[in-house]
Amino acid sequence: MGPLTLLVLISLLSAGSPQPNFVLIFADDLGFGDLGGYGHPSSVTPNLDRLAAGGLRFTDFYATSPVCSPSRASLLTGRYQTRSGIYPGVLYPGSKGGLPLNETTIAEVLKPRGYATAMMGKWHLGLGLNGTYLPWKQGFDRFLGIPYSHDMGPCHNLTCFPPDVKCFGTCDLGVVTVPLMKDDVIVQQPVDFLQLEEAYSDFAADFIRSSAARRQPFFLYYPSHHTHYPQYAGRGAAGKSLRGPFGDALLELDSTVGAVLRSLEDSGVTNNTLVFFTADNGPELMRMSRGGSSGLMKCGKGTTYEGGMREPAIAYWPGTIEPGVTHELASTLDVLPTFAELAGAELPSVPLDGVDMKSILLHHGRSERESMFFYPTDPSEKYGVFAVRLGKYKAHYYTRGAAHSDTTPDQDCHVTSFLKAHDPPLLFDLEADPSENYDLATEGHPEYVDLLKRMQQVRDDFQASMQFGESEIGKGVDPQLEPCCRPDCSPKPDCCRCG
Ligand SMILES: *[C@@H]1O[C@H](CO)[C@@H](O)[C@H](O)[C@H]1NC(C)=O
Ligand SMILES: *[C@@H]1O[C@H](CO)[C@@H](O)[C@H](O)[C@H]1NC(C)=O
Ligand SMILES: *[C@@H]1O[C@H](CO)[C@@H](O)[C@H](O)[C@H]1NC(C)=O
Ligand SMILES: *[C@@H]1O[C@H](CO)[C@@H](O)[C@H](O)[C@H]1NC(C)=O
Repeated sequence: MGPLTLLVLISLLSAGSPQPNFVLIFADDLGFGDLGGYGHPSSVTPNLDRLAAGGLRFTDFYATSPVCSPSRASLLTGRYQTRSGIYPGVLYPGSKGGLPLNETTIAEVLKPRGYATAMMGKWHLGLGLNGTYLPWKQGFDRFLGIPYSHDMGPCHNLTCFPPDVKCFGTCDLGVVTVPLMKDDVIVQQPVDFLQLEEAYSDFAADFIRSSAARRQPFFLYYPSHHTHYPQYAGRGAAGKSLRGPFGDALLELDSTVGAVLRSLEDSGVTNNTLVFFTADNGPELMRMSRGGSSGLMKCGKGTTYEGGMREPAIAYWPGTIEPGVTHELASTLDVLPTFAELAGAELPSVPLDGVDMKSILLHHGRSERESMFFYPTDPSEKYGVFAVRLGKYKAHYYTRGAAHSDTTPDQDCHVTSFLKAHDPPLLFDLEADPSENYDLATEGHPEYVDLLKRMQQVRDDFQASMQFGESEIGKGVDPQLEPCCRPDCSPKPDCCRCG
């Protein structure tokens, strides 16, 4: 055998099991009912619908928190947010804390296997002194985006839709305007919303093409600002949906997804790339028609009802994942172990809460996950998890409404529905009653006694294994830490404007 033949043989052999690329898309405040492919009548989401039709669509997929930062911490670490200390609530522009650097993210799991890593979009896992907690400290080679929510800075003078429609409302006052960062440098402050998604599409194209050209496997993480308040959209999407500002923002997210898919196709890596889509938490119903929809799920953002944490999820990998629908129980916690398994990467040696979804993805098989735990926005050891899902049953030990879910006809969702303990717990059969309408009213029904005992045991075992990390959000804020493109200017925060 000549050296050339040998080379061809080796490259053929290694082409047989190349490491897959990963694209992880994380929508923001997007509800179970918001996508066309999940039944919304007036959403326009052709690219996400294409992923759903050509991939595996989950019906029983959960985020770990009904708000942003904790949900992101769990996605990237495969651990409940209580372990990493990303509670209560969310991080702010001047927060002293962030995702601890000794937490291992998906990017850090993949890097030792030779992956190129990049993220574009909303980080929201801390900034800290001199950018202590930025994505490049957590395994991402490249970053373009906003380090937190795009409503965490005054927005009433910013343009959200062309030609010059101001953003709706004021957003957060008394802090710096929202910056756009490239790696650890502020390149624009305030960010130009109308150009943002185009910048992301270009960033993705460059990253995908250059990685593919080097034949280097890659991981692209795209936590979108869409469809969080305030809704915005550039020329391509503004006024083009049937659903007003929310629909336009969603259409723009969908268009960026389309641009990413085109880049994969242009680089010839579509069939070797797993695209995974889901969202961080349920819709912000207090925005009324400018907010999302949880479809037939109860309540939305901020609550531990299904609408707060049950999310659309799609896994797309042509030729490897058979198109279809799965009713298996799965979670954002399971993304890290699954990517690690598919890449042949080592799992971090810490207590993980995620399980490998490979059998669901590759064989439409059974989930290794039997239970899901629902922490409120302010987890504490005193109350523990508010609800437990075991198989098709969900037991609520505590319920509470949230301002984020105000204005719905269902009073249970409102902030005025204060903390309520349930003993026996409210029990729902989520297969027969996904809307959590009909409490199985277990008292006096012996058939539920064993089930509730088992659920209590699962809850107790989980809580016994849970070690709360020190609260990073509890470390408080220092206005000096807010990102400013002109660090020495005054008076702050108004002088922080560039580009
Ligand atoms: C990170 O460090 C903190 C402080 O030393 C420690 O409490 C925590 O357990 C560590 N976390 C991990 C995942 O190693
Ligand atoms: C943070 O950055 C500033 C300005 O670059 C520098 O003066 C300061 O020493 C840095 N602080 C730390 C703790 O690294
Ligand atoms: C917003 O615009 C108004 C009117 O143009 C102006 O008076 C005000 O100073 C602006 N506020 C900020 C924060 O730029
Ligand atoms: C990708 O996979 C699909 C589905 O199996 C197949 O039809 C297509 O030819 C493949 N494309 C390439 C470039 O291999």
